[in-house]
Parts: sequence; structure tokens; C-alpha cells
Amino acid sequence: MHRVVCPGSFDPVTMGHLDIIGRAAGLYDEVIVAVLINMTKKSLFTVDERVEMLREVTARYGNVKIDRFHGLLVDFCATNGVTAVIKGLRAVSDFEYEMQMAQMNYRLARVETLFMTTNPLYSFLSSSLIKEIARYGGDVSGLVPDTVLSRLSERLAAE
Ligand code: PNS
Repeated sequence: MHRVVCPGSFDPVTMGHLDIIGRAAGLYDEVIVAVLINMTKKSLFTVDERVEMLREVTARYGNVKIDRFHGLLVDFCATNGVTAVIKGLRAVSDFEYEMQMAQMNYRLARVETLFMTTNPLYSFLSSSLIKEIARYGGDVSGLVPDTVLSRLSERLAAE
């Protein structure tokens, strides 16, 4: 049984994340999408909301599970019998930090990291950029799933 984890903040999930999750689901027996609970970082959506959106948009994949974690990713991996992390690489700018984390996770607990190049259609996407564009009234349709699009406009209208 090959079980991998796709970790992240997912505030909110984008089409770029979904592309990586779907491709990982085609390669491995089980994919756990793990949402980081980070009390110190201000987020637009609560962890519950992020988990709910992820559940909705990954419902079509029978082998994708959504979970949450705090603390070290390697501890989450140990608890859940996960030996590898899957990460999307958008551009060279992602590489340095991702490589540092990958090497540290390997050093800490022999957890491997596998990098998948993102679909070029979404390589310029990030959750932060989505929030910024949406906050100023820009059109982010097609860049996030429809359920996220409507929740984004609701949330930002209430701000
Ligand atoms: O979507 P993000 O915010 O870029 O995801 C970053 C994440 C959650 C993958 C990373 O911050 C992480 O793994 N955090 C858990 C804490 C941890 O294990 N830190 C040491 C990493 S070497």
C-alpha cells in the first residue's frame, strides 16, 4: 500500500493544488491531503472550512482523504504510515525552500519528498495571489474550483 501526503495551508485550495492531488491519486494507492493548523498565521478561511472545501473538490477521487495536522509533518507521517510527501513545483523560485524542507524531513525521519511539476496552466497560481486579486474585485474564475469561488466572494463581501 503506497500512501503519500500532500501537505499545505490550502487557504483556499486552487486549481493548481487540485491538479497535483488528482495526479497523485492516479499514481498512489492513497493520498492524504493534510491541512496545516497554524495558529500564528492569519488565514481567510478556518481549518474546518478549508477541510470542507477540499472534501467537496476531491469527492470524485475514492483514494483521497482529507485530514489536518499541527506540529511537524514528519510526525504526521509517522502516525499515519506515510513514507513520502508529494509537492508541486511551480517555478525555480519554489525550489530552494522546498529542497531545504525535503532534506530536513529526510534528515529528521527518512521521509522522502517527491516533486511534481505543476501544469503550466496553473504555474503562476498561489492562494495568496488568488485572495489578493479577489479582494480587489479581479476575476479568479477558472483558477479556483467553483465552490471556492462562491465562498471567496461571500467571505470578502463580509470583510
Ligand atoms: O501551503 P504551504 O503553507 O506552503 O505549506 C507549507 C507546509 C505546511 C508544507 C510546511 O510549512 C510544513 O510542512 N509545516 C509543518 C511544520 C514542519 O514540519 N516544519 C518543518 C519543515 S522541514
